[in-house]
Amino acid sequence: MNNKKKIASTKAGTSAPKTGADQLELRPGQSVELLKELHILTRDGKLNQDSRRKLKQVYHLYQFIEPLLQELRLSHPDLSLVDHGAGKSYLGFILYDLFFKTLEGNAHIYGIETREDLVQKSAELAKRLEFPGMSFLNLSVAESTDSAALPPTVDVVTALHACNTATDDAIDFALKKQAKAIVLVPCCQAEVASVLNRNKGKSLGRTSLTELWRHPLHTREFGSQVTNVLRCLQLEAHGYQVSVTELVGWEHSMKNELIIARYKDLPRKRPAERLQEVLQSLGLEELQTRFFVPA
Ligand SMILES: C[S@@+](CC[C@H](N)C(=O)[O-])C[C@H]1O[C@@H](n2cnc3c(N)ncnc32)[C@H](O)[C@@H]1O
Repeated sequence: MNNKKKIASTKAGTSAPKTGADQLELRPGQSVELLKELHILTRDGKLNQDSRRKLKQVYHLYQFIEPLLQELRLSHPDLSLVDHGAGKSYLGFILYDLFFKTLEGNAHIYGIETREDLVQKSAELAKRLEFPGMSFLNLSVAESTDSAALPPTVDVVTALHACNTATDDAIDFALKKQAKAIVLVPCCQAEVASVLNRNKGKSLGRTSLTELWRHPLHTREFGSQVTNVLRCLQLEAHGYQVSVTELVGWEHSMKNELIIARYKDLPRKRPAERLQEVLQSLGLEELQTRFFVPA
């Protein structure tokens, strides 16, 4: 992250105790109040180590999202971002604090979350911090696609560890809302593995490659890998340029794959064909609707 500084560090050898804020890298204008509210700093200004790890992870993700936002704001400052499976909305609040709050116009972040208590807490926090460009909606990702509370098009869609098929619903949302950038850190997805498992009897022995998912543990891991491959092909088949990388700093989690898609109106035919071939080769034809690509 550029432009960051450690605030008010004490000099070596002096006796003044360090506060939590001293040890955090803060950007100019960043809200210490927000960090306290997110329990990254305790009320008496000390660092909460667990939450600090979470903050570092979100900062790390921010490094990937900020350049996308910078590029998009050149065409218009009224950026809209929808964060699916928002949870406590760490990501949304940090994005707002570091980027959105200084934008002019009607830039807005929407958090979508099925847990009503979390939605309510986030809404109260945004009010307390006077972050008017944040809204939290108690909807499932799938419901949000047709919700009148959201605009017909959005600039950026994020989904950070949105459970199971919520990531796929977020992709569907992003495609329907013509998102210019999509940032996904998928969680476990059991749907592909369950179809592989159900069809094992039919497919085992067909080719030696079916060994890739014969053992139950391999079925789960291979299913997860295939899911993300199909997601990438689906995005490419809608004209997006896709990059896949590892979200370092996420060592505690097995689910650290970061998929970033940017709309470039790229040729769609080959990824669409490849997607169909993968579905057919693995006996996953019934998932064509899930990984929908227009003919
Ligand atoms: C593992 S948490 C991640 C929270 C947050 N994105 C983060 O990384 O800190 C997943 C969140 O997604 C929510 N969720 C799960 N399925 C959902 C769905 N279909 N629609 C909206 N939210 C969902 C859960 O309630 C939970 O708060």
